[in-house]
Amino acid sequence: MDDYAELTYGGKTYKLPVVEGSEKEKAIDVSTLRKDTGLITLDPGFPNTGSCISSITFMNGEKGILRYRGIPIEQLAKHSTFTETAYLLINRVLPTRKELNRFSVLLNDHSLVHEDMQIFYQNFPRHSHPMGILSSMVSALRSFYPELLSVEEEINITVTRLLSKIRTLAAMSYRISRGHKVVYPRSDLPYCANFLNMMFDNPVKPYKIHRDVEKALNVFWILHADHEQNCSTSAVRLVGSGRVNLYSAISAGIAALWGPLHGGANQAVIEMLSVIQKNNGDLTAAIKKSKDKNDPFRLMGFGHRVYKTYDPRAKIMKKMCDKVLKKLKIDDPLLDLAKKLEEIALNDSYFKDRNLYPNIDFYSGIMLRAMGIPTNMFTVMFAIGRLPGWIAQWKESADDPNWKISRPRQIYMGNEKTEFIPIDKRK
Ligand code: CMC
Repeated sequence: MDDYAELTYGGKTYKLPVVEGSEKEKAIDVSTLRKDTGLITLDPGFPNTGSCISSITFMNGEKGILRYRGIPIEQLAKHSTFTETAYLLINRVLPTRKELNRFSVLLNDHSLVHEDMQIFYQNFPRHSHPMGILSSMVSALRSFYPELLSVEEEINITVTRLLSKIRTLAAMSYRISRGHKVVYPRSDLPYCANFLNMMFDNPVKPYKIHRDVEKALNVFWILHADHEQNCSTSAVRLVGSGRVNLYSAISAGIAALWGPLHGGANQAVIEMLSVIQKNNGDLTAAIKKSKDKNDPFRLMGFGHRVYKTYDPRAKIMKKMCDKVLKKLKIDDPLLDLAKKLEEIALNDSYFKDRNLYPNIDFYSGIMLRAMGIPTNMFTVMFAIGRLPGWIAQWKESADDPNWKISRPRQIYMGNEKTEFIPIDKRK
């Protein structure tokens, strides 16, 4: 044992190995702690707990660094496409041209969904949230398409199927919710353009793919593609650890992402800005409310468990948002409100002292609005983007030779042994 930490308890000293990551980050390995000492660790919300060793994504929250498979997010956003980034996350390396072409062909081949799945959409109540629908539909895919996982080629088919069909399912949910005819995927269009076409093409007004919008969507999805052990990814790993089928593990990830403190924040930001706008743009009142400990309201799109400086994704998103609105000649008053709100918050000691900066969700909704995506679909857009990361993380955990079913412990603080009282004798 080269490096270790010492724990003294009950008059005995134990040596706990220290593990060092590729970027010199360190962790105390407590995997034998209970066996050796009878103790467990207690860490609600896991801010101090590493749940796995991973080679997918590196984040440094103090310096604002994010890299997929070692490549900085800024370079991927500038030079890559979502399809290529998905390949990188899932297959560990950037594809050759031939590999990328093959991957794109596979994505096209698997883009249709079984016609019977359309019937499900008709039976969801009118106002169902698209995230609930998406989670159910992804889970239902298992009944239509068996999971093939025994050899590498079969795993590729299952994974590509999911990556391709999620976009068709999302666009279908939008069309059907509007009472519009479903638009089928087109084999001549790349991933992002195909999605936009399925969303917005119309027999009386054919959709013209705007190259800047297509580029922006690629960047939006690249920025969301992975974020190491966040709430939804941990859900995918945890549910997957029981060796459930891939579709169910991803469906659990979608459900976890829905929450307003996680992926649902992009929708919540727009709702918050709209309320501020209705209140005559009173930003000071919103800031005051968010600092009030007796009020559950938080400034949506602000703060992050890991980033204690500006979220590197938010920097790119803010620039992208400005660019898209300019190109589309859209003047969105919510963008001005957001910028003013950011300025006030960043100069407020409450936010400065707690290192609360805008996160990716602060500007992403404004960009999605400009693209014509309805507000209740924002988190679905996040889910499509996060899918390659979930798949890569699920694959990594499934291939881990040290794999164990996830099963944390607890400290029980409840009644001691209590006798059962028959119902007639209860007070
Ligand atoms: N507005 C006001 N106060 C805040 C906010 C906020 N958005 N975020 C954190 N705080 C305060 C919090 O009240 C606490 O104050 P105190 O120390 O006085 O008790 C302190 O800052 C630390 O907050 P925390 O809740 O302990 O931090 P966390 O790491 O548990 O939570 C978070 C991280 C993202 C859930 C939280 O910052 C938050 O609720 N933000 C708003 C929701 C949001 O934008 N979520 C999207 C996250 S990025 C997308 C993704 O999920 O990947």
